[in-house]
Amino acid sequence: GPPISKICCIGAGYVGGPTMSVIALKCPEVQVTIVDVSKERISQWNSDKLPIYEPGLEEIVKKCRGKNLFFSTDAKKAIQEAEIIFISVNTPTKTSGNGKGRAADLKHVEGCARLIAGIATSCKIVVEKSTVPVKAAESIMQVLKANNKQGVRYSILSNPEFLAEGTAIENLINPDRVLIGGEETPEGQKAIETLCWIYNKWIPKEKILTTNTWSSELSKLAANAMLAQRISSINSLSAVCEATGADVSEVGRAIGLDSRIGSKFLQASVGFGGSCFQKDLLNLVYICEKLNLPEVAQYWQKVIDMNEYQKTRFSQKIIECLFNTVSEKRLTIFGFAFKKNTGDTRETPAITVCKNLLDEGAKLNIYDPKVEKSQIIADLTSTRVTDNPEEVKKSIEIFTDPYDAVVGTHAIVICTEWDEFIEMDYDRIYKLMIKPAYLFDGRKIVNHEELQNVGFHVITIGKKLNRPGLMRSVGSISQQ
Ligand code: NAI
Repeated sequence: GPPISKICCIGAGYVGGPTMSVIALKCPEVQVTIVDVSKERISQWNSDKLPIYEPGLEEIVKKCRGKNLFFSTDAKKAIQEAEIIFISVNTPTKTSGNGKGRAADLKHVEGCARLIAGIATSCKIVVEKSTVPVKAAESIMQVLKANNKQGVRYSILSNPEFLAEGTAIENLINPDRVLIGGEETPEGQKAIETLCWIYNKWIPKEKILTTNTWSSELSKLAANAMLAQRISSINSLSAVCEATGADVSEVGRAIGLDSRIGSKFLQASVGFGGSCFQKDLLNLVYICEKLNLPEVAQYWQKVIDMNEYQKTRFSQKIIECLFNTVSEKRLTIFGFAFKKNTGDTRETPAITVCKNLLDEGAKLNIYDPKVEKSQIIADLTSTRVTDNPEEVKKSIEIFTDPYDAVVGTHAIVICTEWDEFIEMDYDRIYKLMIKPAYLFDGRKIVNHEELQNVGFHVITIGKKLNRPGLMRSVGSISQQ
């Protein structure tokens, strides 16, 4: 029979949910159970409205749920029965104590290790799927071993997840690579082979990379650090473009054709967001400091600093263009998610932009096609954004129709690159707004020339636009 019949995943979040759904889809003979401490999350996974939005996810869950895919709060049963246990819990930045604001908080991962050690009565392969600092596997092993029962042995593998939100299912079905790190002992190698058997059900052997545990752990931090660095690099150049008349899109295209550089991830924007880039960079910075490598730490810290600069620079530009005051002015925010095709708002640049505008006294109409109203309110009234949540609540209004959101506003600020913003009826929108009507494109997605012809003053990132929206007024004068 198959080497594996049951697997369990602890953590039913953005990673655990999609990864295990795809494993269930591709390995029909394996029973997959995802457990979570949150009863609410589990009941959402078992309902018609899944707790997270990812294109293609719902179809897979509906196909496999109740057959070989289960969502449960009964961790004990699932752990006891499984041969492989994935740990996909959150590893947020510590908010207090040693390494506050930088180090990864491994309390949930440690909790999983203790949970497994307390329950397991047979040998287990424990897979680190969560993003962790280098050498985390060693700590997990210590916890497991210290609580060992007779005859129970553990193998720990590092198997970081490289999926990107918004394209998670596509990335899982056809990944660039799968990385598995393990011990260089016969037992470690056997565990690697077992996990390979799962992935090999749909991923060719050439794409499955095996390394030692520490390389695998560090590769995940390194990949996110380099991706974030690329965004900060092009964003830093966008500031040079705005000051000189160069166009960052043209620069991006020109340098991207160099095969050593490559064309992807060279789009300038308001800045990166999401739960991972900043957290993993901070984690890397902290590790480097701990390893007494201050120059390396400072190098990666600059990637975060540049991102903060970009978000603030964009917000400042909005305020300056609106005659240096947005006090009591109503503005429309288009998009609140940290990127398109997700409802996730963790570390979204929209929060920073909204905060800066609210601090200046602006009123905001906010529209996002996928983010829940309650989430936007929670984000903007959190203590990180304001010490006066009641005041913020009075200053923001959340809309479900973008055309309602623009009525009587001075400006539109595009914070997320949702496709629907490209195709909207901007003639209709222009008519509904106060004049002069401004559009700030923080994602460089709309057709600036067309919008200028409609009458908008258009401001974007990395390019100085020449004719700041005079066409309509000139046109109407000549008609009279
Ligand atoms: P998440 O916050 O969406 O999900 C984590 C889940 O774990 C939550 O539902 C939480 O209730 C549950 N949990 C926490 N402690 C638990 C425990 N002791 N027992 C049972 N359940 C527990 O987090 P997300 O985004 O899925 O991230 C998980 C890990 O994967 C993190 O380390 C993250 O850095 C990493 N990662 C995230 C990616 C992303 O795009 N979100 C991509 C690649 C890696």
